Amino acid sequence: MQNRVGIIGAMDVEVKTLKSLLTESSEKVLMGLTFVQGKLDGTDVIIVQSGIGKVNAALCTQLLILEFKVTHIINTGIAGAMAHGLKVLDFVVSTDALYHDMDVTGFGYKVTQIPQMECSDFPADKAMIAAAKEAFDSLKEAQGHSLVAGRIASGDQFVSSKTVKESIRAACDPACVEMEGAAIAHAAYLNKTPFVIIRCMSDMADDSGESTYDFNEETAANLSAALVRSIVGKIQ
Ligand code: ADE
Repeated sequence: MQNRVGIIGAMDVEVKTLKSLLTESSEKVLMGLTFVQGKLDGTDVIIVQSGIGKVNAALCTQLLILEFKVTHIINTGIAGAMAHGLKVLDFVVSTDALYHDMDVTGFGYKVTQIPQMECSDFPADKAMIAAAKEAFDSLKEAQGHSLVAGRIASGDQFVSSKTVKESIRAACDPACVEMEGAAIAHAAYLNKTPFVIIRCMSDMADDSGESTYDFNEETAANLSAALVRSIVGKIQ
């Protein structure tokens, strides 16, 4: 079966460059979301701006799977750096994704654990992770930046304080934080659809978070999109 890759970004800045590269493109609007179908360097893709946060991301993922029959899902965008040594404009490819704001510890669950589910930490597809690493190695835009393969933690929260950063680190030690990846991973997991999350760091998720973010948002979003473009044709 030919690949049909769904590409999700939360914000316009995270998807607009990829959309502009499509050939044979057409649009369909569902639940207020604009799904743009077309070919990206010859591969069938559907690109969509989900909106910000976990619920928007999960609903969008489910639509991609049910209505557009995607074979793979890639989430592209920006994130706050958490891993030691990771800097602004470095990249993370997900090994797994979870919710840093899932907290039912009052009933004896571990923080991040989803009660009554067998899985709370959704594993990304190994072949897609390998494709991301291969793509990164030959991506000229990425020269001078590094790629870390690691856990991504999502929550309905922009992390911009050292105290919150340290508590998320203590809870689940992610490589970066953002606001959609784990919800996309969760929906993909339930549908048995392979996924990977690619994020380029816009800020350090600390007290300098907002100002660094504003400065780097567009550059980081475009770097992530450049890596995603290069991954799409490498998915087996
Ligand atoms: N996306 C980019 N930076 C972020 C941060 N610091 N927290 C949550 N989401 C982000």
